[in-house]
Amino acid sequence: MSILLEAKGLSKRFGGLQALSDVSFQIRRGETYGLIGPNGAGKTTLFNVLTGLYVPESGRADFDGKPLVGIAPHKVASVGMARTFQNIRLFGNLSAIENVMIGRHVRTRSNFLGAIFHTPATRREEIATQKRAYELLEYVGIAHRANDVARSLPYGDQRRLEIARALATEPKLLALDEPAAGMNESETVVLRQLIEKISGDGITVLLIEHDMKLVMGLCDRVLVLEYGKVLAEGVPAEVQRNPKVIEAYLGAGAAAEVTTGESA
Ligand SMILES: Nc1ncnc2c1ncn2[C@@H]1O[C@H](COP(=O)(O)OP(=O)(O)OP(=O)(O)O)[C@@H](O)[C@H]1O
Ligand SMILES: [Mg+2]
Repeated sequence: MSILLEAKGLSKRFGGLQALSDVSFQIRRGETYGLIGPNGAGKTTLFNVLTGLYVPESGRADFDGKPLVGIAPHKVASVGMARTFQNIRLFGNLSAIENVMIGRHVRTRSNFLGAIFHTPATRREEIATQKRAYELLEYVGIAHRANDVARSLPYGDQRRLEIARALATEPKLLALDEPAAGMNESETVVLRQLIEKISGDGITVLLIEHDMKLVMGLCDRVLVLEYGKVLAEGVPAEVQRNPKVIEAYLGAGAAAEVTTGESA
């Protein structure tokens, strides 16, 4: 299987805090790759480095054979990477479908103002964009919310809307930062099915999650960070029984729970 994303020796410091320290890993095309670790381990920082929000002190990352480090955040989607945020970032006063249409804009030719003000040149494209946005809302299961303003949506629906917006850029890789946070058990089951569907449609997934059942059930391989360093990497079964991971992160109780093979 070919490599889609390769990170080599990434380091990022905030003042005296080493948030990432010599982090290297490879994500294969088509796999679902988990990123776990305790609070403050550096997971979100890694996303932020990969998506151009932070510039690392050292290291490099290549995406689809091209250098990623140093890329402007607004260019990341056009190379084929899309993400969601740990703290949901939607345009709260715009409708669900408008939020997805904005995500779609990176793939359409006309500019955002043209789309908003309905200039003749953008009209046809806008209809196609709207149709595609509606399909994406259907895909994530919230088409009935298309015209509701984003901030009025229940939390779980807002997370799914963020995923729809990310998918609108037609990514090769979708990076999800704690998509199950704040979801109840039944919402998490639906989310899991959605991520499986996305993966089944050929999109590579990078998943940060604290829900161990979800991570271990969904991911082909898992990278464990602790204090900004790679602690372990491997298939879920290996990671779950790695004593360093059990001690540093899962805790004996959690390790026992995830190794029973139960899944949501
Ligand atoms: N912009 C920033 N300025 C200063 N420190 C930061 C910044 N962003 C993150 N940090 C620090 O870097 C460390 C790693 O944070 P990060 O958000 O990457 O952790 P995380 O693994 O995503 O944790 P969580 O599971 O709680 O989301 C933490 O100690 C955090 O306080
Ligand atoms: Mg985080």
